[in-house]
Amino acid sequence: MIFNNHLPITKQVDKRILRRIFRMIGRYLNQNNSPDTLVLNYQKPGDLKKKIDLTINEEGMDNEWLIKVLRKYLRYSVRTTHRNFSNQLFSAFTFPSFIGEIIATLTNTTMATYEAAPLGTLIEQEIIDKMNRLIGFKTENNPADGIMVPGGSYANLMGLLCARYKAMPETKDKGINGIQFRVFVSDQAHYSFKKMMNVTGLGTESLTEIPSDENGRMKTDLLEKAIKQSLEKGEKPFFIGATAGTTVYGSFDPFREIAAIAKKYNLWLHIDGAWGGTLLLYKNKKKQKLLDGIELADSFTWDAHKMMGVPLYASFFLSKHDGLMLKCNAVQGADYLFHSTENTSLDTGPKSLQCGRHVDALKVWLAWKFYGDRGYSNMINDLYSKVNYLKKLITQNPWFELIADPQYFNVCFRIVHPKNSIDMNEMNMEIRDRLFRSGSYFTNYSVSKNGIVFFRLIVNPNSTKSDYRDFMNKLINTTESILKEKYLPDQSAHIFNTVEDQ
Ligand SMILES: Cc1ncc(COP(=O)(O)O)c(C=O)c1O
Repeated sequence: MIFNNHLPITKQVDKRILRRIFRMIGRYLNQNNSPDTLVLNYQKPGDLKKKIDLTINEEGMDNEWLIKVLRKYLRYSVRTTHRNFSNQLFSAFTFPSFIGEIIATLTNTTMATYEAAPLGTLIEQEIIDKMNRLIGFKTENNPADGIMVPGGSYANLMGLLCARYKAMPETKDKGINGIQFRVFVSDQAHYSFKKMMNVTGLGTESLTEIPSDENGRMKTDLLEKAIKQSLEKGEKPFFIGATAGTTVYGSFDPFREIAAIAKKYNLWLHIDGAWGGTLLLYKNKKKQKLLDGIELADSFTWDAHKMMGVPLYASFFLSKHDGLMLKCNAVQGADYLFHSTENTSLDTGPKSLQCGRHVDALKVWLAWKFYGDRGYSNMINDLYSKVNYLKKLITQNPWFELIADPQYFNVCFRIVHPKNSIDMNEMNMEIRDRLFRSGSYFTNYSVSKNGIVFFRLIVNPNSTKSDYRDFMNKLINTTESILKEKYLPDQSAHIFNTVEDQ
């Protein structure tokens, strides 16, 4: 049997391949649960190139090649759904969303118009309405607005564009025309804000980074001071980017205070909740306080591909201002695509920056519908209990130092040693590197404002407390090896006590 809907060229794809590939996927997913499976199989680029012939040749390949090469691809890819993956912010895996991604690709269409993606369009609108209600943008009197975009960085960009359009609509046609605009974010904000200063032609020098306090929260007195200085210089400040869940520390800015300043100076307030937006689904009132005041913002970024276990991309740009995005982004010259029909008002293409747009909404909707708000709330509860467990292990062992009290799922800590001659930055980086190269654990490090290197562990929904206990012991064992090899060769007995289950 063959598939008859592939490219009309001579090659045929055997239908049994589909079954074999799905079996392979099943095995792959199962392996992630096994402690014997490595999270990655690290290869140097030169060695990796030798494993698979990457060149595309005059003649094509056969069915068996397809199976073999996919097997190799899986073997040499990082297992981001593995319980020992705590590197990036997207470690969760939900089966309904995985299938949603496959079905969206199977039915491959564009979200530009209702006629090309009828259900996709309605599903996207439903999720946007739900998110806007949770944020507080959508009320009885305010329909609010939103769109899915390829990534949180892109959602932040949409915020900046809408803000600039609102402040000075003429920039849409005339460009920035010599105006010295100014944008404010905290020194903990995501680097995408710097990138978009370039993209929008405002220039990276027009971005002011406001220092944050010891908990990684924007200092609002310094924000107001910077705005005043900008106005005194005759600049046009128009945008504040606050963050709900910063990338490194998982901090939440003081939104209510920032919103008051934004209102006082008539600036747009965008909240980057790419990472922290999902906290809105947590039913714990105390933690909800971290999001206090978000309804006062003008726009919001929310990445379902981070904490909601949906495959990349699943990002939302949400706006309090209905119709503004359309005015900001719509242009003439697409008569071939956008027609006047009874459903024109549902076409999302005109307000988007993209033409073709993947149906990302399906995978989000399938997962959210399947687990419900409660499913996510339970997941967040479990994550917080793992954060607390890790915090306990760290604070009760003298060889660990907590760098910041975790507010969210970023646990920042380092290994310490009383001997002054040991470069602890080098040591922590080497520990991380050894674990990474061994393939046993994939986590990351960052550097504090005062130059301290520390682990940034992102708590993974798939991990258990005992995984974390094992990880901490692995850190201790690796540290011991390095100390003995490099710094304290005469030391024979254990230098550190391993952590106990507490
Ligand atoms: C706070 C924050 N905002 C934005 C982004 C960018 O999101 P994306 O990777 O979807 O572009 C990240 C990525 O980690 C982030 O942590």
